[in-house]
Amino acid sequence: MEEVDSTPQAGKLPPRFEGRTMIVGIGIDLAEVERYTFDERSLAWFSRKIYTEEEMRYAMRKRNWPERLAGFFAAKEATRKAFGHAIPWRWVGVSHERSGKPVIHLFGKAEALIAQRNVREIHLTITHTATTAAAVVILES
Ligand SMILES: CC(C)(COP(=O)(O)OP(=O)(O)OC[C@H]1O[C@@H](n2cnc3c(N)ncnc32)[C@H](O)[C@@H]1OP(=O)(O)O)[C@@H](O)C(=O)NCCC(=O)NCCS
Repeated sequence: MEEVDSTPQAGKLPPRFEGRTMIVGIGIDLAEVERYTFDERSLAWFSRKIYTEEEMRYAMRKRNWPERLAGFFAAKEATRKAFGHAIPWRWVGVSHERSGKPVIHLFGKAEALIAQRNVREIHLTITHTATTAAAVVILES
């Protein structure tokens, strides 16, 4: 049987995995929409401390913006879980492709996690209803 070198070496894969795609992290989170129905003061605080400018612009264009803010928060939490690291909220941001597909971006020092974990792609999916939002993040190396 082929032997697998299980020595932990940052950024280096055992030869049998080289060139292959592997899932190296997964995270999931649920958010109650009611908790994101902010008044003006809370909205100002959350937009400074938690959400990126792009997330705020996107959400506030929509009638049901609390659903969007709940979805973005779930995406940030799911990303933390996938990396197993307490990433500051504003260092994780959601943007959108032209199709509407959501995409995770890491900013600041959190960006270094991508290389540290040998991550080639971050997959994100978000869903939301009037009461709940959910997000799943998968890290591919
Ligand atoms: C994407 C789609 C399936 C969403 O379904 P839905 O049941 O209405 O809504 P959900 O709450 O489950 O999902 C909404 C979220 O899906 C994500 N989404 C939107 N377009 C997407 C796309 N093209 N690919 C992946 N995810 C997408 C977004 O995060 C969106 O949240 P937002 O509106 O706050 O940005 C629907 O908008 C759709 O069919 N769009 C057009 C066709 C398309 O591009 N389909 C690709 C996926 S099958």
